[in-house]
Amino acid sequence: MSAIEEIKQKLDIVEIAGRYTQLTKAGKNFKGVCPFHQEKHGSFFVFPDRQSWHCFGACSTGGDIFSLVMKKEGIEFAEALKMLAVRAGVTLPVRGRETLEKQQHARLYEANEAARDYYYNLFNTSREAEKARQYALSRGLNAQSLMDFKLGFSPSGRENLKKHLLEKGFSEKELLDAGLVIKTETGFIDRFHNRLMFPINNTAGRTTGFGGREMDGSQPKYLNSPESPVFDKSGILYGLDLAREEIRRRDQVVLVEGYMDVIIARQYGFTNTVAAMGTAISEKQIDAIKKLTRNLVLAMDADEAGEKAVLRGIEHENSLGSEIKVALMSPGLDPDAVIRQSAQDWSKAVNDAEPLVDFIISKAAAECDLSSAAGKSRLVDRILPVIAQMNNLVRQAHYLQKLSKMVNVNESRLEASLKEMKTRNQTGFQYAKPEVARTGRPLLSNQREEYCLALLIQHPQLRQKAVELETEYFSSTENALIFSLLSAGDDIETVKNKLDFATLEYMERLGTRPLIPGGLERKLEECVLLLKENYLRTLMQNQEAILSSAGLSATEKEALLEESMKIGDQLKSVFWQKSKNTERIKKENNASEK
Ligand code: GTP
Ligand code: MN
Repeated sequence: MSAIEEIKQKLDIVEIAGRYTQLTKAGKNFKGVCPFHQEKHGSFFVFPDRQSWHCFGACSTGGDIFSLVMKKEGIEFAEALKMLAVRAGVTLPVRGRETLEKQQHARLYEANEAARDYYYNLFNTSREAEKARQYALSRGLNAQSLMDFKLGFSPSGRENLKKHLLEKGFSEKELLDAGLVIKTETGFIDRFHNRLMFPINNTAGRTTGFGGREMDGSQPKYLNSPESPVFDKSGILYGLDLAREEIRRRDQVVLVEGYMDVIIARQYGFTNTVAAMGTAISEKQIDAIKKLTRNLVLAMDADEAGEKAVLRGIEHENSLGSEIKVALMSPGLDPDAVIRQSAQDWSKAVNDAEPLVDFIISKAAAECDLSSAAGKSRLVDRILPVIAQMNNLVRQAHYLQKLSKMVNVNESRLEASLKEMKTRNQTGFQYAKPEVARTGRPLLSNQREEYCLALLIQHPQLRQKAVELETEYFSSTENALIFSLLSAGDDIETVKNKLDFATLEYMERLGTRPLIPGGLERKLEECVLLLKENYLRTLMQNQEAILSSAGLSATEKEALLEESMKIGDQLKSVFWQKSKNTERIKKENNASEK
């Protein structure tokens, strides 16, 4: 949620407006003497449902909480935002802090990349690295792979890297923060010695840390960089920067366990392969995958697979919105070994991957004696909780049926236990994440307004097509502000420079919101029409609410009615235009069918 949205959620327009004028209840709304112009009767209305206000008197205008404060205090949006942020107890993002953080991160990336180049260079040129080159050869890595993954060599000296990077202008503090050196009683020394170095990149391809493999049996087998502001182990997938495009293109990702597996897989053309960093897959990693594909295949050792797969597997399926598959390897064989033995076998294992839940069930079934009552009941006890976690009811039914056949127990009996388990979970132990306690009112965000702005921001050429779009069609002041700047004809950068930082952040989010491509001009046209309709309907509703409240004079009523008629006419023309569009689309569809 952006700071702007948070402010809207936390504050109540009735309370804020109540400070400017005395409000009394009028049905489910409130009315009072308009704080903006001199009057005796109340023509100022506040609508809590929509968190908006409207003056039908001399102002004949309205808006949201921000426009209310702007108008009353005579200030710009950015100022109103600051005031209301203080009221709401929301901290506005500051440009300065952000840049400072970015600068710090930039230094950490630079230090890691300088180290990567240093190790890479040594690997390729130094005499000491001969054993590393031999080792790489013995693992079957070809020159292309060594280049793609920039494998390196860390020398056995204590301070080689440190000296090199200090000369390059990095400070000891920066090297420490980047995890490249460690602090000892006698000073800083290199973290990695005498290891084959695997640079670890983030999705954008920036180097954030290293894994260093021993080559002489020393412990640990892999020494990894520590967590740092740029290296979040639970979020990174090794190889994702190189694999992204292929994952998207093949609409599938294969997840293996080791660095070496990723490299060998790519070398043999399985370019959609990535690895988690030796730990269970995290929600963050699932989120990264979700942006590219929903089809996830886990490559696992048959012996170790059981427990690992169950662990949060269903949760991940729920989050992916599709089933995860499991490709099993013979015990003790890493994908790297399988692939080098037979790329075909590997290909087959991936293609024949079995749905995770079926795998979990058959694995459990193999451990229960299904000819005995006790064994059946053990299987049910193990599998029902797994089924209970699924949030897709069709899948749930499918697996209930499967389980019922396996244990020869009526499906409805299993279903009853499942229901009981679910209610129990709601009170006690929970599978799903507990819902975050809401603070304040539910958020009134306007998806259509945001979609429309996203279109205009991401496709600037559409802006000249939006001639019928008016600023007042936007019910949120921040949306209206962004639109008015956009429609003034400035380019995006100029618009951004004119915004306060909180609004800029909000706009940048709109600018990266995924849009379904195709027919954008038509979509925009439709969206403008709907915004207009919504605007007119809201006006109409306001008039009706005002009309039905007590204490209006005959002339006021008459004026309001006249106003309503005008709005009604405009609405009619919107409807007419909508039906014209529908007809046109029908015609075009017919034409394209012929
Ligand atoms: P090879 O043994 O050379 O084939 O390495 P691998 O890349 O195939 O790794 P392996 O399957 O042994 O382990 C999987 C992953 O777990 C590795 O890529 C590392 O990320 C991590 N890992 C393995 N051993 C260690 C260790 O000793 N320490 C740490 N921190 N991580 C490790
Ligand atoms: Mn391995």
